[in-house]
Amino acid sequence: MADQEQSTLALKNGHHLPRIGLGTFQATQQGLVGSAVKYAVKAGYRLIDCASGYGNQKEIGAALKELFEEGAVKREDLFIVSKLFQTHHAGTQHEDGDRRCVESLDETLEDLGLDYLDLYLIHWPFGFQEKKLDDSEGIKQPLRLGDGSPNPIWNIKMEYLDTWRCFEKFVANGKCKSIGVSNFTEEQLQQIIDMCTIPPAVNQIEVHPYLLQQNLHSYCAEKNIRVMGYSPLGSTSSNHPQKYGVNLLSNPVIKVIAEKLGKTAAQILIKWTTQNNSNLITIPKSTTPSRIVENVSLDFEIENEDVKKINELDCGHRYFISYLKKPGNDNIWHSGVIEEGNDDDWVR
Ligand code: A2P
Repeated sequence: MADQEQSTLALKNGHHLPRIGLGTFQATQQGLVGSAVKYAVKAGYRLIDCASGYGNQKEIGAALKELFEEGAVKREDLFIVSKLFQTHHAGTQHEDGDRRCVESLDETLEDLGLDYLDLYLIHWPFGFQEKKLDDSEGIKQPLRLGDGSPNPIWNIKMEYLDTWRCFEKFVANGKCKSIGVSNFTEEQLQQIIDMCTIPPAVNQIEVHPYLLQQNLHSYCAEKNIRVMGYSPLGSTSSNHPQKYGVNLLSNPVIKVIAEKLGKTAAQILIKWTTQNNSNLITIPKSTTPSRIVENVSLDFEIENEDVKKINELDCGHRYFISYLKKPGNDNIWHSGVIEEGNDDDWVR
């Protein structure tokens, strides 16, 4: 790995995290994610981004166990991130307060085979009713009813303040070194800052040239909250911005810069994230060995003029939009993140 990609950013609590990590979202095909994690760690990756909602933590845990047993890496040299799923918020919605939140972290630690997480994030600032998602039949509920109105089983509550209080206990009892959030707006971050003892160390959000969100980045930098950017390559979604009609990897502006530098479009996109924003960590996902290496082979610079051209691609386009704000849905509290979209769009 090149020096810059091995470099770390300090969190305000004194812990450090690498600027590039391996994403594991959508790495669900049996056998793939474990191999990817082992390959990535051996190739020099030290940050692995996980989530209980990705459904693959057991396999990642087995891979980590092998890596530790082989002596390929020590636990203390890795930075493992995970996230609390929407069914497991703490607080008044559930009759027994912190229970599900505590149980969820314990299950995550057990699945990953770890005693502690380096960073635990609230995955989204809203909750789902637990019983509906725990459906033993595995039936996926429709997002909208036949008349187009939101399906009321998707229970929308702002529970993250209670959950944050619970997260602070995880730092006190040593199960999490750092805590943070994901998909939070400036207003939601400020709400936590106003009430917390421990401020969020990180906000993980979607970051790529189609979605700059300068205000949110400036706010996070000002508050010393590191931003972890997901989907730097635009993920696998075919929901491209109308303005361009192509995904990021096929965008002509990116392709021309890639050709000029003799690099791939993916390398340009990943390099842009670290070069353009010194407060940013990026987590490209790949289960393909050659791409895992390619994505951290970034020993080059993009000229300032070209960085500017990439920034100009910004069109406020989200690949991951929530379905919670639909026509007729009055829950507009999450307007910074949630926009109208297709029923096919799914919460990441
Ligand atoms: P794969 O895992 O099969 O290698 P994002 O990180 O933006 O969510 O993007 C992840 C998607 O991009 C995955 O489909 C992944 O495929 C693909 N991908 C990852 N690295 C590269 C690369 N270097 N070139 C092209 N596609 C890539």
